[in-house]
Amino acid sequence: MPLHLLDHPLAEQCLAVLRDQRTEPDSFRRYCERLTLLLVIEATRDLPMTPTMVETPLERAPARVLAGPLVAVPILRAGLGMLSPLMALFPEVSVGYVGLERDEQTAVARSYYRKFPPLEGRIVLLLDPMLATGGSAAEAVTALTAAGARDIRLLCVVAAPEGVSLLAEHHPAVAIYAAVQDRGLNSRKFILPGLGDFGDRLYGT
Ligand code: PRP
Ligand code: URA
Repeated sequence: MPLHLLDHPLAEQCLAVLRDQRTEPDSFRRYCERLTLLLVIEATRDLPMTPTMVETPLERAPARVLAGPLVAVPILRAGLGMLSPLMALFPEVSVGYVGLERDEQTAVARSYYRKFPPLEGRIVLLLDPMLATGGSAAEAVTALTAAGARDIRLLCVVAAPEGVSLLAEHHPAVAIYAAVQDRGLNSRKFILPGLGDFGDRLYGT
């Protein structure tokens, strides 16, 4: 289960803004989108390509085009904040949704919605900004796998070691792309230092 961490000054700049408790939802959304662009670029470096030929204004030239469309699956609600940059880069993407909400007392995720496009043979980018205990991501991967997905890549803003370990144990084939890996979880299963409740900060709840 490879863990890919972003190593780029722009990623650090975005993280600094996202972590800052003074950042208002409008800026939070914009910096989330900027950071997601970097994550998407990193997670799609090895996409399969098909050779072709194009006519330039001067002559025929060899070129390569994307072999097939991607599937994006944001985990509701916070994952929605990562969807629009992915759609801007890959306009042909089809989009599925997983609705999961952590119980505030137990931190165990409850599933409330699921809708997927065809997944066989597609690369799936699973979007969830916070990988804390890993329960939400693991449940989403289980559902995607049951629906036929074989190449699943999780894109998150902050990963906790606990979540990385859980995914490695239960879903070792899933590659994780994160901007950063933080120290760990507190007693309420929030990431430290983290950035708080991502969904609340994104939507001002
Ligand atoms: C947050 C976050 C992840 C989940 C991570 O969602 O967006 O989906 O917690 O925690 P885990 O790794 O311990 O499962 P939350 O359940 O708060 O729902 P929301 O997106 O609707 O705010
Ligand atoms: N979900 C969040 O939004 N933040 C955390 O720190 C943990 C789970």
